[in-house]
Amino acid sequence: MFATRNAIKIAARSFSTASPLQSKVAVLGAAGGIGQPLSLLLKTNPRVTELGLYDIHNTPGVAADIGHINTLSQVSGYTAKDQDGLKKALEGAELVVIPAGVPRKPGMTRDDLFNTNAGIVRDLAQACAEVCPKAKLLIISNPVNSTVPIATEVFKKAGVYDAKKIFGVTSLDLVRASRFVGEKLGKITEVPVVGGHAGVTIIPLFSQVSGLSLTDAERDALTHRVQFGGDEVVKAKDGAGSATLSMAYAGARFADSLLRAEAGEDVLEWAFVRTDLFKNEGLEFFSTYVKLDKNGVKEILPLPQNISEYEKELVKKAIPELKKSETKGVSFVGNN
Ligand code: NAI
Repeated sequence: MFATRNAIKIAARSFSTASPLQSKVAVLGAAGGIGQPLSLLLKTNPRVTELGLYDIHNTPGVAADIGHINTLSQVSGYTAKDQDGLKKALEGAELVVIPAGVPRKPGMTRDDLFNTNAGIVRDLAQACAEVCPKAKLLIISNPVNSTVPIATEVFKKAGVYDAKKIFGVTSLDLVRASRFVGEKLGKITEVPVVGGHAGVTIIPLFSQVSGLSLTDAERDALTHRVQFGGDEVVKAKDGAGSATLSMAYAGARFADSLLRAEAGEDVLEWAFVRTDLFKNEGLEFFSTYVKLDKNGVKEILPLPQNISEYEKELVKKAIPELKKSETKGVSFVGNN
């Protein structure tokens, strides 16, 4: 009892300083497996002043529920049945997080979701381009390697594209890799993960972790586990979806990074963004080290000079896969 009261006091204290910035965050797909815990975590973030939740159904319940948490932000929830519901959720948003769409079932690849999710992301991006063209877009819906190019093309068509503001959220790969290595080292650690967000395009850079020494077999096994870690969750959930709770954590972390950058902090993150790093290979999107500021991407850093030969090979293998997914996304908007 004492511990609980004490915890409440501490929480109230930490939320008692009003954020100097108005930071409305919209979540599209807010009633889903990721959307609900993500909205919950965003409600507990003192930098968020308003939450606009949208889903095709069930959003008012989610909004009413988390709206009772005693932090300073206001929460409103809209569904497709509300007149201008999507518009109301988006109006004035600083960040728009998109986990709308279907998740994988056992045996599916992320690309198998393309047919359903491509149209969902296109339509939601279209609404963002109209209502809050200056907001930062955080795309979680899979396949990220295609949905980010889709949102980009929509913004280009609408004449409001700013490469600094569209992000594919690949933080879960980093969170997973960091946990797997941290478990081994017995301490909290951070493993950079670059490339994309599907199978062999996910490239953990173990070479960048100080104090980590792996045999070739251990390195191969750990790399495979990071690349296919999502499958462990899909299998364990046995048809009930893919990672939701760890994804919500990773998404909330990335949103917080952008809000901290918005407030003037120097923040370094890893995200799937438009970059010239692989221009010579004809590739436009890659997940890499990104310095953030209030406008979104401040600077894209090259891969570290000292990555291993093994990691260089992984990058080479990822490029054609990434290109295929990118082209598929771009063509989808061109043809539809
Ligand atoms: P879910 O099915 O539990 O929730 C998706 C929600 O989107 C549902 O509530 C649904 O009503 C809503 N929705 C569908 N169409 C919509 C539309 N047009 N407008 C607004 N809302 C719409 O799925 P879950 O588990 O939350 O996953 C969502 C997406 O996130 C999937 O595509 C999944 O593959 C992806 N994902 C991405 C990860 C990443 O690392 N980037 C990790 C895990 C999942």
